[in-house]
Amino acid sequence: MCARFRLWPTPCICSGMRLSMRLTLSLVAGVAVVSLGLTLYQAHAQRRGLRRELQQRALVVAESLEKSAAPLVDGHSTSELQRLAAQFQNHERLAGVAVYDAQKTPLAGTAGVDELAAAGAGALRRAIEAPGGSGAFFPWKGKTMHVVALPISGATGSAGMLAVFQDAGYIDAQEVSLWKRALAGVAAQTVMIVCATLLFLRWSLRRPLAHLEKWLRDLRRGAPSEGPDLPEEAGFAPLKREAVRLATTLTAARAAAEEEARLRDAGESQWTEERLRAFIQTRLEAQRLFVVSNREPYEHVRRNGAVECSVPASGLVTALEPILRASDGTWIAQGTGSADRESVDDRGHVRVPPEYPQYTLRRVWLTPEEEQGFYFGFANEGLWPLCHIAHTRPVFRAPDWEYYRTVNQHFADAVLEEIAGERNPAVLVQDYHFALLPKMIKAVRPDARVAIFWHIPWPNPEAFGICPWQAELLDGLLGADLVGFHVQAHCNNFLDTVDRLLESRIDRERFAVNRGGRFTYVRPLPISVPFAAEAAMPAPGESNLERVAMLRAAGVEAPMMGVGVDRLDYTKGIPERFRALETFFEKHPSYVGEFTFVQIGAPSRTPIRRYHDLMGEVTEEAERINRRFRSNGWKPIVFLPRHHSHEQILPYYRAADLCLVTSLHDGMNLVAKEYVAARNDEGGVLILSRFAGASHELADALLVNPYDTEGLSDAIYRALAMTPEERRARMARMRMYVREHNVYRWAGTLISELAAIRLQAPDHGRHGAAMAAELAPVAPGR
Ligand code: G6P
Repeated sequence: MCARFRLWPTPCICSGMRLSMRLTLSLVAGVAVVSLGLTLYQAHAQRRGLRRELQQRALVVAESLEKSAAPLVDGHSTSELQRLAAQFQNHERLAGVAVYDAQKTPLAGTAGVDELAAAGAGALRRAIEAPGGSGAFFPWKGKTMHVVALPISGATGSAGMLAVFQDAGYIDAQEVSLWKRALAGVAAQTVMIVCATLLFLRWSLRRPLAHLEKWLRDLRRGAPSEGPDLPEEAGFAPLKREAVRLATTLTAARAAAEEEARLRDAGESQWTEERLRAFIQTRLEAQRLFVVSNREPYEHVRRNGAVECSVPASGLVTALEPILRASDGTWIAQGTGSADRESVDDRGHVRVPPEYPQYTLRRVWLTPEEEQGFYFGFANEGLWPLCHIAHTRPVFRAPDWEYYRTVNQHFADAVLEEIAGERNPAVLVQDYHFALLPKMIKAVRPDARVAIFWHIPWPNPEAFGICPWQAELLDGLLGADLVGFHVQAHCNNFLDTVDRLLESRIDRERFAVNRGGRFTYVRPLPISVPFAAEAAMPAPGESNLERVAMLRAAGVEAPMMGVGVDRLDYTKGIPERFRALETFFEKHPSYVGEFTFVQIGAPSRTPIRRYHDLMGEVTEEAERINRRFRSNGWKPIVFLPRHHSHEQILPYYRAADLCLVTSLHDGMNLVAKEYVAARNDEGGVLILSRFAGASHELADALLVNPYDTEGLSDAIYRALAMTPEERRARMARMRMYVREHNVYRWAGTLISELAAIRLQAPDHGRHGAAMAAELAPVAPGR
């Protein structure tokens, strides 16, 4: 009947009721079996006790009779014996006594005892033989009788025997009443259990189930919901957790589908995570994808005795995770967290993201010496300042180079282990930490497609030429089938460097290096950010409240706010931007008390002296400028020197009237694109260094030279004084660009370029890979 009225939810309740019936029946059966077992045991024990009591009483009677009867039997006083026996007539439960001579001829007895003795003759015989005078039981007229026999000792030995008969029927009666009581108990318990179960179901299960049912219905109809209203008890917690996950996944899938539909409708060709997933699956077919980077996407850390999993500060993770998630690939990276080792299996594997595992993280372990020489030493004191023209002198130490080679080999071994058994695996190597890896992998697996993406600038040949191991680095890189940079200028510098320093032929037509018939293609592929769907963004207007709250937290009140978000790195031009702010306040005192700049700075690579010193320098500069201009409740610079998650940074982006990106040199700089992506109100002005890769794409930013303090301070003034119309027009154009050139497009183009590589058959020579002549259209910027 219920199915007629309520189509979808009722089967759920009905099956819930069936479930509760089954539960009740099982409970009742369980209780009945246990109760009956207990009663059986109790009945058995009671019967044994009562029988023992009966036997003892019979023995007492028999012994007292024997004492009086013995002299009378000896003296043949039959009438005396009869009188004696008659005294036992009508004793409670005593059915009769009988006295016999040595030949077992009856001498005396109570009335009717002959009939009893005749019926219980067999039992009497057993009673004579029973040890300890325990007697024997026998049935008589539908009752149970008991007889005990005792020899009569005369002056000259055994003079005869006496028998005491008792009615044992009351034992059966008591057993019957015990069973009746037990059955009544089982019945009462059954009623109680059924009632208690029904009440429990009503109050504890039915209501939450009804809530869950309603929540699922709402979810199906698309109503936004945080999660079902379930009790907090432990039993419901996993159900609630899974329900919330289900809702999140469904909502995300719905949003993506709606976005896809919207884009199809609008005829746009925007890349989304779903499109990337489908694209990767068709392009790579059965080939598996492997990503290598030094920084891991998830770090397990022990805090207050518990293991926590966090995402390290890195734009790389944002960019690469969608690729891994889309392909269920493997990410090979250094394990750096304090609880990393205890969180992996014996192959160094852990599935991530922790709350919704979609790909495998393979951790590689380095010794502290290796990390020092490879990461802090060669990569960050050598290559980093070598490639960034920021006037910090690179340091090249031979032992650091040795560690760099050793660690590259460790990673190559790990990659080879992971790709063993895979046909034509695709390997994406990331960044300047692994220049030697492509050659190491290709030497063993020429069938692998290998790309390396260099996320930092590539300098001109003169600048690169100071590196003592320049040839080895280039040789390692040219092991790859594809080398990617963010901008065309870095590709040009790379080809010029190869041309100048290595024996090779530069194929300008294909934009590739040809070494003995083996090609390495060089492509500009500008990395980007995800660009969240509009629906995920908070409503415009909230940002004013956010600004007031954020500044108040820093003890400042100001109607205008600027923001800078950087790793604390000398290439980011942070002291330069502070000095420009100082000049700005000098030249435009009307902004004193009106505009505050918030600098978020994540400490980075602090064991390196230059980075350690930079922290001091930035702090001192902020304090010096604050001392000059501060007033009650206001200061020009708020410096927040700690790591902030992306979620914590978003409100700053949304509330800031301007964002300063003043890198002295930068591969791309994702902060610039993150700021644009965050401004769904089309407000805010981006001030961007012309030495950051992002400036090649974001032409509507105010482009600046961070070394030019005057010029930079003018740009700050221009940004704050800009008309809302101009601000909106510039931001709208930049947003359109970043929306279309998002990180999914970057990943799709990279995969597309890699998949288009045609590898030469192994018997044509180990190093004979060649690219198909008809490459997919190259990345934007070419
Ligand atoms: C640069 C590199 C990235 C790296 C980031 C953080 O942007 O190009 O690959 O993830 O710095 O550096 P870290 O040394 O902290 O990994």
